[in-house]
Amino acid sequence: MTKPSVGGLESPDLSSHDATAHESAPHVPVFAGAAREELDQLLTRYPTKMAALLPALWIVQRERGWVSEDSMAEVSDLLDLTPAYVKGVVTFYTMYHQHPVGKYFIQVCTTSPCGICGAEEVVKSLLRHTGTGDLGLTSRDGKFTVIEVECLGACGFATPVMINEEFIESVTPEKVPGILEDLA
Ligand code: FES
Repeated sequence: MTKPSVGGLESPDLSSHDATAHESAPHVPVFAGAAREELDQLLTRYPTKMAALLPALWIVQRERGWVSEDSMAEVSDLLDLTPAYVKGVVTFYTMYHQHPVGKYFIQVCTTSPCGICGAEEVVKSLLRHTGTGDLGLTSRDGKFTVIEVECLGACGFATPVMINEEFIESVTPEKVPGILEDLA
């Protein structure tokens, strides 16, 4: 499947990141070697360094699977922004992960139209069959993280679920085991 892009950048490969990474480990700069070259190239396409913030954070997430406080500080240095500004952006957009997530990041729409059609039961089935147990937690094997999100733009096809870049419509609790099996 072709991955969508953001600002010309390939979307993060969540299957390649280490979900056991921890904030307390010594920070290894993201923007060294090829990633630094990519950022430098990126900066030539924007009128200001600030304008390159979103794609720069996207590079961090692609390389590390999530955006740590240390990575935010690194980005703020490189783009001449305050750490608070960078953190404000990271926390505003749900597409940026502020902690390690599973290899398969599962987003379920539970906004009212989908809620009326049974989204909560889909969520329960996902939590049970992935072994995550609760929203936002990652399964012990590091494979799955399930979260609820607002409208995914497929209100006529409840319940829509996104697994990494894959969009699946009309998910029911009964379909969940098969969907998860197909990921294996
Ligand atoms: S309300 Fe669920 S996709 Fe719109």
